[in-house]
Amino acid sequence: MKKPFSRDLILREIPQLNLISQEDMREKAIKAWELAYTDSDYEDLETVNFSPYYPKPTLLGHTRSVTEASLLLAKNLLKEYDYPIDLDDLIVMAALHDISKLRENISDGNGGVKKGPVGAAFQHAFFSAHYAIEAGLSDKVVAGIFAHTGNTKQLPTSLEAILVTYGDMADADAHRFSYDRPLQVAKLHK
Ligand SMILES: [Fe+2]
Repeated sequence: MKKPFSRDLILREIPQLNLISQEDMREKAIKAWELAYTDSDYEDLETVNFSPYYPKPTLLGHTRSVTEASLLLAKNLLKEYDYPIDLDDLIVMAALHDISKLRENISDGNGGVKKGPVGAAFQHAFFSAHYAIEAGLSDKVVAGIFAHTGNTKQLPTSLEAILVTYGDMADADAHRFSYDRPLQVAKLHK
């Protein structure tokens, strides 16, 4: 039986959401997670895997790690160069960038995940952007979510989106390297 969506779980698992200064943005981000989880076939959000290829990392763990990595990059750039970076936008982009995986992948029946019909039919991040729009988030945040993956032709159009893209690539390539999978960074060396 599907566990009910828990706002407390999201705030505990992605604690950076608590740093958002605009209350309505935090609530919209949580709403987007709720919409994606509700539409998914998963029964327990806490145990959803990040990828079919890696048994250990969870989707929530990857999201937390990417959000923290993006924040560390942003705080460093703010301190060193005082570039204009909106931390609320950055946190929400990072916190929602992979919620589409709740639809793209489905349970494999053995505690893992496998690519499902949505993953086969839609480009990665399409549904993340969809739920962000449905939750009422800004075009800037939606664009950052949509452009975080190299599968999207559109390049990032904000500094926040660039940082989330690199934060995500660092985390994802750590898993790819550890599990002997092709690296995303290799695409930059062609
Ligand atoms: Fe990701």
